[in-house]
Order: sequence, then C-alpha cells, then structure tokens
Amino acid sequence: MALHIEKIEKSKIDNVDFNNLKFGEVFTDHMFECDYENGKWGTPKIRPYQPLQFDPSAKVFHYGQAVFEGMKAYKDDNDKVWLFRPDQNQERINKSAERLDMPAFPKEYFFEGLTELIKLDKEWVQKGEGNSLYIRPFVIATENCVSASSSNKYKFMIICSPVQAYYGGEVRVVFADKFSRAADGGVGYAKAAGNYAASFYPAKLASEQGYQQVVWTDASKHEFLEEAGTMNVFFRVNDTLLTAPTSDRILDGVTRKSIIQLAESKGIKVEVRPVRVDEIVEAARKGELKEMFGAGTAAVISPILGFEHQGEKFELPKMDDSYSKFIKKSITDIQQNKAEDPFGWRYLVE
Ligand SMILES: Cc1ncc(COP(=O)(O)O)c(C=O)c1O
Repeated sequence: MALHIEKIEKSKIDNVDFNNLKFGEVFTDHMFECDYENGKWGTPKIRPYQPLQFDPSAKVFHYGQAVFEGMKAYKDDNDKVWLFRPDQNQERINKSAERLDMPAFPKEYFFEGLTELIKLDKEWVQKGEGNSLYIRPFVIATENCVSASSSNKYKFMIICSPVQAYYGGEVRVVFADKFSRAADGGVGYAKAAGNYAASFYPAKLASEQGYQQVVWTDASKHEFLEEAGTMNVFFRVNDTLLTAPTSDRILDGVTRKSIIQLAESKGIKVEVRPVRVDEIVEAARKGELKEMFGAGTAAVISPILGFEHQGEKFELPKMDDSYSKFIKKSITDIQQNKAEDPFGWRYLVE
C-alpha cells in the first residue's frame, strides 16, 4: 500500500493546554483520509488537519449515510504508545458500513493509516493517569447527488483528539418507556451517525428532568434494559453481573466484551441474558441491586448512582468493594501497560 504523507510545517501543539481539555474539541496536527470511487479505494493520505470542502448535494448531508468508530491510544511510562483491541474497531466499522450499504475499508489500509497517523502525532498522546488520545475513524457518503440511494463515492477518515480522564459528573439515568433507540431489523448494532442524532431529543428531555443518560429498552414493549447513550449497561444484583446479550438492536461494545471476559476470569459470576426492567426495579426495592454502570471507550466504566422508572426514583447504595472500581482499574491498567495482559488486548503502535 502506498501511503502518501504530507507533514505539517509547524505543530500546533504548543498552543494546547493539556490540563484543560474539553472532550473532543482539540485535534492533532494530521488526519488520515482515503477516497472511494469507481468501485475502489484510492491512495490513502495523511495530511495536515484542516477543513474539508464538499458540494452541498453530497449525500451524507441529506441521507446521513455515515458510520464511525471510537478508540483510544495510551502512552506508558517508557513513552511507548498502545492501542486497546483495535482489531475490534476495524471489524466493527466494516459491519456498520455493510448495514448502511457502504463499502468495507481494507484492514491493511486501516492499520497502516491508524498507526502511521499516531506515530506522526505521537507527542499528542500524553502520559499520566487518565490521559489518552481519542481516535475517531469515520466514513461518509460524498457523491454529489440528492437522489435517495446509496452513494457511489465515499471518504474514510481518521482524526485524533487528546483527552483527559473522562468524568461525566454524577450519573443518574431514566429507563426509556416511550422513545426507542433501535428496533429489530434496524441499525442499532451499527455505529451509524443517525442513531446518535435520533437519541439527542429524548436525551435532552431526560436531562431537563435531571438525568444524564437514558437507558434504552426494547422498542416493542419497553420490558428489557438494553444500553445507555453511548455505553452498554451492567447491573450487579447481589454478586452477579447482568448485561444484555448483543443483538441487532445493541452495539457490540469492546468495553462490554472485555468486562465480561475480565470479570469471569476473576471469578465474578456474569449472566449475559435479557435483563427485565421489572427484575431490576424489584432488586432495587429489595436492596439487592448493588451497582449499575455504563461501559464504553470514553469512560471505560461510568457508575450510575440512581435511576427513574415511570416516575419512581431509586438510589443505589454506596459500595466500598464495588465491581465497577475493581474492573475499571483492571482494564485501565492493561490499557496503560501497567499490568500483565493475559488476554492479548494491547497493541503496540511504537
Ligand atoms: C450506542 C453505544 N453503545 C455502546 C458503546 C460502547 O462501545 P465501546 O465499548 O466499543 O466503546 C458505544 C460507544 O462506542 C455506543 O455508542
């Protein structure tokens, strides 16, 4: 593969205050891009990070034919840079693309683009607790035509943003009983841009009620708890962790599958099965619901302190020996090369 690289003349890095980063607002010096036309991907390029120019008729603006990924790179104490299970993101973006009738992006292009980009912008990966480089691969439909059909041109890109430890504040959630995020046969399992657009309005209504997230339930009867905004969800009832199985409504989260594997290896009982709203409400009433947490790349684990269901409010107990703290530490230690990696999850960039 001939990767074309055009480097910046002068880095912007000296203008960045790494101690005051808002999530996803600052981007590194370079970006990776590759265009698809006439049935094939062209020459991949790395160029200085810059705005793009599109015709107003580009299909992505009209039909939302767009998919994306989210992953992170970490720098250890010896300045080595690591990714966490990037093969999973590479496979998932192509699964998402297939559902949106977009062409798969070749694996070797993905890995070469990703690793060369991170090497060029290595200074932007900061060491230290909680610091990382958030990486956003995405694909958009670029054909100039407003007919409602699949595009015949696409652009694959990777952009990177330095981030600090994710702290979303105290999180309380509401269980969805009206709106839905995904339905059987739909696009819920894909990281399709439109899934997120569709979730913003219910999320805003929830936020007006004081809730930071909606926990989505099945679209047909709102009987099963499926996932939160940009996270999968786990429930600890007594000493068992429960989480919904993946399906065509649920994103197959990398963090979720890592938590399941790690928890099981540490002897924690995990049940992957449909989780009923009423069993969680009942467990909360009996004091058996010990923990609830979201799982995703941004925060790894985001503890949920309370929830509302049909107007009834529940608070979770404060746990000294929480699974969420233990699992979060175990996973972040692997990500940051502070612990053995028995599962082979770490991927050395440089
Ligand atoms: C809807 C949804 N569920 C779950 C996740 C968690 O997935 P991952 O652990 O791969 O980040 C994400 C974030 O990517 C998401 O957008």
